[in-house]
Amino acid sequence: MTVQERLRHLRRLIQTSQHQYYIDDRSDLSDEEFDAAWEQLLEIERAHPELVTPDSPSQRIGGSPARQFAEVEHSHTLLSLTNVFSTEDLMTWRERLVPQLEPDLQESLGWVLEPKIDGLSVALEYRNGLFMRGATRGNGDVGEDVTANLRTVKQIPLHIPAVPSAGVPVPEVLTVRGEVYVRKEDFAAFNATLAAQEERVYANPRNFAAGSLRQLDPNESSRRPLRLWVFELLDSEGGPDLPTHEARLTFLAQLGFPVAHDAIHRFADGEFAALVEAADRFLDTKADLPYEVDGVVAKVDGIAAQRVLGQTGRDPRWARAYKRAGEQVVTRLLEIETFVGRTGVVTPRARLAPVPVGGVVVEHATLHNFDYVASLDLREGDQVVVMRAGDVIPRVVKALPEHRTGNECPWIPPERCPSCDAVLVQQEDQVAHRCPNPNCPKQLTRAIEHFVSRGALDIRSFGSKQAMLFVEEERFIRDVSDVYRLPWSEIGQLEGYKALRIKNLKDGLAAAKARPPARLLHALGIPFVGLQVAELICGAVPNLLELPHCSQDDLELIDGVGPEIARAVTDFLADPARRRELQALALSGLCMLGPEKTAATASEEAGLAGKTFVITGKLSGFTRSEATVRLKELGAKVTGSVSGKTDYVLAGKDAGSKLAKAQKIGVPILDELGFQELIGNLEGD
Ligand code: IVH
Repeated sequence: MTVQERLRHLRRLIQTSQHQYYIDDRSDLSDEEFDAAWEQLLEIERAHPELVTPDSPSQRIGGSPARQFAEVEHSHTLLSLTNVFSTEDLMTWRERLVPQLEPDLQESLGWVLEPKIDGLSVALEYRNGLFMRGATRGNGDVGEDVTANLRTVKQIPLHIPAVPSAGVPVPEVLTVRGEVYVRKEDFAAFNATLAAQEERVYANPRNFAAGSLRQLDPNESSRRPLRLWVFELLDSEGGPDLPTHEARLTFLAQLGFPVAHDAIHRFADGEFAALVEAADRFLDTKADLPYEVDGVVAKVDGIAAQRVLGQTGRDPRWARAYKRAGEQVVTRLLEIETFVGRTGVVTPRARLAPVPVGGVVVEHATLHNFDYVASLDLREGDQVVVMRAGDVIPRVVKALPEHRTGNECPWIPPERCPSCDAVLVQQEDQVAHRCPNPNCPKQLTRAIEHFVSRGALDIRSFGSKQAMLFVEEERFIRDVSDVYRLPWSEIGQLEGYKALRIKNLKDGLAAAKARPPARLLHALGIPFVGLQVAELICGAVPNLLELPHCSQDDLELIDGVGPEIARAVTDFLADPARRRELQALALSGLCMLGPEKTAATASEEAGLAGKTFVITGKLSGFTRSEATVRLKELGAKVTGSVSGKTDYVLAGKDAGSKLAKAQKIGVPILDELGFQELIGNLEGD
C-alpha cells in the first residue's frame, strides 16, 4: 500500500466511524481502534505535510452535530472543593492539617494560591502528545464526551510537541484538568450580538461557557470565544516525576497549556499569613481581572503531603476555596424605578451604574417596598452598597451619606400607578402598595409574561418583549386568552415581524397547547397556585373546565390544598371574566383534561417512567416545584430522601447532606445543566 492509499484508507475509516459515533450513536470501531487509526493518520500527515488535504478529518474544526453526548468514565475522579468564607476558617484549616503530617513533610510544607476560575471544569486526555478525549466533570466519575467541541477551543493544544528545554519526554498518557471559560469582554460582545438578534442572552460567563461547550453542533461551539486555564495535572505516565503542584503547573505551561501564572503564587508554610492577606487582596481586586472568578483556591503544594492528607467525600483535605459570603460592592444609584407586578403590587427598584457582583454584572437591585427606601433614606444619585449572595437577587444594603455632594435627590413614593394612574391602595396590615385596577396594562403585561414563561406554558419565541408590544403598545391582548387570538395580519405589518418570526411564534403557541392542564392552571396566575399545587388540583379535578364549579370546601378536600389556596382559586374563578378566559382557552384548543385521562398512560410511556429523583440545593433556572412537575410529567417519581432506590439526585447550588449521601452511596448526580439537557431531550420540542 502506498502512503497515499494508506492515508485515504485511514481518512475513510475515521470519517465513517465519526459519522457512526456522532450521528448514529454507534461505532464499528472500538475506542482503541479509533484512537489507533487517528494516531496513524496524524503521524503520517506529520511526516508528509504535503499530503494533508483540507478534507482530512484532522483538519476539521467542527465535526458533525451530535445528537447527544456519550458518557465518559473518568480515569481519575474529578474532585470538588470545600468552601470557606472567612480568613479565620482558612487559618483553622491550616492549623488542623499541619499536625496530620510527619515532621519531614511539615518542614517542606508549602502552599499555592490560585484563582478559582468561573467556567466549566473539563478533563483532557492525551496519548503520546495527541489530544484524544475531553469530557465535562459531570458527577466527578462520569462526565460527557465533549471532545469535538473542545477541539474547537483554540487554547487547547491538539498536539503537544516534545519540549527539549523541559528536558523531558512527552508523557505517553497525560491527563490534565482545567476550566473552560470566557473573558468578560468576549462574553459581553457575544451577548450583545445575541441581543441584537433578539435571542436569549446568557446570564453569566459560567452559563455561557457551559452552554457553549454543550452545543450539539461543534460548528456552533467553534464560533464561541472559549478559552482554557489548566489547574491540575491528573496523570502523566512516562513523564517526569514532579513532586509539587507548582512544578506540575510549570511543566504544563512548558507543554503549551495555558496556566494563569500571573495570578498564581507560592508561599512557604511560614508565610501563611501572607497567603491569607494575598487571598483577601485577590478577592478585593478580582473585578480588575479580564475573566470571572468565584473565589480563590489555596492548595498544599507538595504532592506527597496531598497524598497523606487525602480527601473527605469528593473534597480533598489539602485544598480550600475561599469566597466572600455575600459579595458587596459600591456603585451609584441612578434612579429609583417603580415596577408593577402581576398582582398589582408596586415595588421600587434601583437602577444602578452597572457593576460586577459575584460573577454577574448587576444593573438593578430590589428595594422591596416604599418603607424600605424610606428606612435607608435612599436618594437618587447616592453611592450605595449592593450585595449579592449566590443566586439571590441583588439588593441595596445601605446608602453612603458621607459621599453625598448635595446633588442627590430624595425620592417621593408615587401615589398613583405608574402604568394606569389609578390611586394606589395599601391594606392596613400590609407594607405593599397595590394598583387596584384589574385592567391595568402593566399588570396584564406581567400576567402574559408569566403565562408564556418557562415554568408555565413555556411558549417559545414569546417573551417580555412580545408581551409589552402586544399588550401596551398595540393593545392586541386584553386578557390572557387573547394570546391565542392574535391578529396575525396586523402583526405582519409590525417592524421586525417577518414571515419567519411569525412562524416561530405560531409554532411556539401550537406546541404549548398540548402542555398538561396543571401547567395551564399555573399559567393563569392564581395567587398561591404554583406548579405543584396546580398538579394536586388537576389530579383531583380531571377537567379544568369543571374547576369554576368547585366550591372552596371541594377544593379543601384535596390533599395539600389548604383554605388559603382554596379561597384564592374560588375567588379568582368567581370573576365571570376569568371563566370566559378559561372557556376561550379551551376553544383555542388548549389541553383541559387532567392526568387521570391523559397523563397516566402518557407518563408510563414517558422517558423517565419508573425513575426516582431527589431534588436538593438551590436551582437557578427553575423553582424546585417547577423541576418536580417537569420530572413528573416525564413519568418520574420525586421523593424527599436519598436511598438505594434513588436513581438520580438533581443537585443545585449549595446542596448539602442529600448530595453527600448520594455521593456516598453512588447515586448519579445531575447538575442543573444536565437536568435541562435531560428534560430538553425528552420533552422533545
Ligand atoms: S481544584 C483539587 N483549582 O472549581 C481538585 N478547581 O468547586 C479540585 N475550579 O469543579 C479542583 N478553578 O472546576 C481547582 N484553580 C482551581 C480551580 C478549580 C476553578 C473549579 C473546578 C471545580 C470547582 C470546585
